[in-house]
Amino acid sequence: MNVDEILSDQARIAYPVGIEETGRRLSQKKGKTINFSLGQSGPEAIPYDYFREFFLSLSRASEEELRPIALYGATRGGSTGLEAVKKIAKKDGIDPDEKNICLSSGALEGFYLLTRALANKGDTVCCEAPTYSINLKSLIEQEFNIIGIPVRGAGIDMDYLENVLKSGKRTKFVYVIPDFQNPTGLIMSLEKRKQLIRLAREHEFIIIEDAPYRLISYDNVDLPPTIYSLAPDVTIFVGTASKMFCAGPRFGYLIGHETVIERVRRFKQCAGYNIPELCQRLVHGYLSDDTAFEKYMKRILTVQKEKRDLMLRKLEESFPRSNGLSWSKPKGGIFIWVELPEGTDADLIWLEAIEKEGIGITPGKGFFPYDCRRNNCFRLNFTFPTNAEIIEGIPRLANIVNRYL
Ligand SMILES: Cc1ncc(COP(=O)(O)O)c(C=O)c1O
Repeated sequence: MNVDEILSDQARIAYPVGIEETGRRLSQKKGKTINFSLGQSGPEAIPYDYFREFFLSLSRASEEELRPIALYGATRGGSTGLEAVKKIAKKDGIDPDEKNICLSSGALEGFYLLTRALANKGDTVCCEAPTYSINLKSLIEQEFNIIGIPVRGAGIDMDYLENVLKSGKRTKFVYVIPDFQNPTGLIMSLEKRKQLIRLAREHEFIIIEDAPYRLISYDNVDLPPTIYSLAPDVTIFVGTASKMFCAGPRFGYLIGHETVIERVRRFKQCAGYNIPELCQRLVHGYLSDDTAFEKYMKRILTVQKEKRDLMLRKLEESFPRSNGLSWSKPKGGIFIWVELPEGTDADLIWLEAIEKEGIGITPGKGFFPYDCRRNNCFRLNFTFPTNAEIIEGIPRLANIVNRYL
């Protein structure tokens, strides 16, 4: 049987995420490798003490208390999961009703199910350019007509967006990451948030606000309010515990209009049905003790801020001075975005960095929709590598970058 012929059209256009290919190539290298391509916190940020305490308490639990962990749960989330969402949302200035919440397996699944509920194949949708590569992959694989809106300084170019809205077919949604954006680290200003809301009401589209990094703030930044808290009528909020706790429990959620949330729940019923009760309790317990939460957050932020400062210092010391070469100085989040002179191909740097130095980076092109794709840029993650790896790896990467300038 020729299995290729059986594959669906969607399976044919699906492509693997870039970080997997980087990881695969690095794993084939002999000697020590350093990976700046991942998108998660480092091992120092994991609250091991809390994990031990949590599982110890389970070992003493009654059968009645353990039972829900063994059974299917409610799609919208159990009482602990919903309470956990309310606790996180409060930190973001949101006070949602349970009918407006749906739990998902990470923000990734929430985004995927939500976009399925909002747009059909061929519909026009907008996102930032650059934007988060895996959610972009989700839009591409669903065959939407994706229009990239350039990210400039304090958020997307609103004039550009307005022109798109006036000229083309109806836009179903605009996807934004307003706080410490992935990959640029930028913050959308309050003025732009309000402009976006005005446009959403005028042109009747949904704003998808993806906000995993709101609490990952290093320099006492006074972030503008969430777009959802300013305009719940036109916004769906995508949240997650991945960056302020850890990614393993895959605890994500959507907050938004009851009708949309109800449709997303119907999709979720075919996609695993519910989030494991064990994961909901893990996150709930983490958020329940304010003192413990503050303590862990302080540790995450201290460790990651130190790494951000270290990587910025090493970039300053070792990256060549050249016209057109610059990098972001993010006040939060987990990434630094490097811009190269026009015409430079980051794929060549990516390949050579792996092959010659055993170093992983993420080339820029995967962060841009096809209509505005460019590759004279790459992303560096500063939270997963150790301090020693940053100290060793950045000068080695600089040697490679230098050859392409
Ligand atoms: C902007 C953005 N959204 C969503 C996610 C994924 O979140 P989750 O782990 O909850 O699926 C990430 C992870 O890096 C991200 O950067």
